[in-house]
Amino acid sequence: MFRLGIQAKPFIKWAGGKQSLANQLIPFFPTDYDRYFEPFVGGGSLFFTLCPEIAVINDHNRWLIDTYRAVRDNWQQVAEILDKLPNTKEDYLRIRSQNPYELSFEARAAHFIYLNKTCFRGLFRVNRKGQFNVPYGAYDRRYYDPENLESVSSSLAHTTILAGDFELALAGVSNRDFVYLDPPYYKLGGHSDFNRYTENQFRETEHFRLASLCRDLDSRGVRWAVSNSNTEFVRHLYQGFHFHEVSARREINLKSQNRNILELLITNYD
Ligand SMILES: C[S@@+](CC[C@H](N)C(=O)[O-])C[C@H]1O[C@@H](n2cnc3c(N)ncnc32)[C@H](O)[C@@H]1O
Repeated sequence: MFRLGIQAKPFIKWAGGKQSLANQLIPFFPTDYDRYFEPFVGGGSLFFTLCPEIAVINDHNRWLIDTYRAVRDNWQQVAEILDKLPNTKEDYLRIRSQNPYELSFEARAAHFIYLNKTCFRGLFRVNRKGQFNVPYGAYDRRYYDPENLESVSSSLAHTTILAGDFELALAGVSNRDFVYLDPPYYKLGGHSDFNRYTENQFRETEHFRLASLCRDLDSRGVRWAVSNSNTEFVRHLYQGFHFHEVSARREINLKSQNRNILELLITNYD
């Protein structure tokens, strides 16, 4: 893999974001692969830390993915629109109530970034109809850093950006590629983890489907690493593979006693 040497950081805050873990996880990744695949890209912490030259990123959240595409193709116009969006509760509620799919591509991306930076705790959460429903956060902060947005755009220049299910995103993967999978986590003892990134929740059946896809990739010689919670369920699902414990600080978790916990990184290689 060739790294682009660009210093880009995630431009949105994302539940389950791996920013604080990236440097713990990357030493477990191989370095000799052609393409980097990240089918649950979210805020892209690992993608931006690695900055791979050739990559395929994907997420089921279409608004998020459209935002990546708009920033890659026209970050300046996204920034211009952002500059004109006022940070008041009235404006927030007005912008939140607009249907993003009635806006231009760039305005849709600007609204996404704006809502992410001004909403309560930077959460992206939708109701069952897929409507964004987080209250106003009343934060006085910049919506974006122009230098970083430009670097983000450059780091995405040769990246294939897909919006859909993880399984489809891996349709063209080969045994010379590497896949990092960071699905919504299986819930930890009784407390359901945050799971409202899209109108469809990630339930047990999805975890079974993912683990069976991993077994299939393994049989085809494709190397992968999966993050998930340190639970019996997950250990059972990935039985026979390599388990690495990493210590994590979970950001979006109201139970403060659960903030420092171990998570699993499971790999199908040594
Ligand atoms: C734990 S987050 C990934 C966080 C990311 N690693 C980061 O650093 O920000 C899981 C992501 O999976 C996405 N997702 C949920 N169901 C999915 C599916 N079936 N296929 C692809 N992505 C899905 C969510 O929208 C969410 O962005």
